[in-house]
Amino acid sequence: MANTIAHTTPSSTPKGAIGRRQFMAYGTGVIGAVIASIVGIPIINYFISPALGHSQATAKSEWKEMGVISQFPVGVPTKVEYSEIQKTGWEVAEARKTVWVVNQGNGQVTAYNPRCTHLGCAVYHDEKANTLNSPCHGGVFRVSDGKVLAGPPPRALDTLPVKVENGHISVIYKDFRVGTTEKIEL
Ligand code: FES
Repeated sequence: MANTIAHTTPSSTPKGAIGRRQFMAYGTGVIGAVIASIVGIPIINYFISPALGHSQATAKSEWKEMGVISQFPVGVPTKVEYSEIQKTGWEVAEARKTVWVVNQGNGQVTAYNPRCTHLGCAVYHDEKANTLNSPCHGGVFRVSDGKVLAGPPPRALDTLPVKVENGHISVIYKDFRVGTTEKIEL
């Protein structure tokens, strides 16, 4: 009966240690993953932010000059329109804004967001009644304080931060949720 002898080839790598090639492969993989995360996360963020509605640059909290107070008749709303550049992700667009400014006299000024608090229709000035009216469902607002005089709006017109410096009126434009009794900034 012939005896068989098993031949084993001695390994050049001690058991439990990794070879030079394996080490290089692991090292390259780790470095690649680090570089990919450094470069990739901002790129992914750039592409998905607009889809998530994240605005990267808005002029949300900037004071905008409306004009000189002496140009605004007392007790009557004046419509001020302006445009600003808004950047959302890769989109750059010109946004038109409207503010209703009321010179209350004695240097006091009130500014309103133009959206009706019911469903957001843009209010207009009814010159005869001197009220701010919604064209959609009969909402009527008092000029002096924005209070609801008629119709379904659940709260007064939304006032905006306003200041008068050296006779110049400035306003910070903001939007608010419509259809709620509470004034909730968007
Ligand atoms: S949107 Fe103004 S009353 Fe409905």
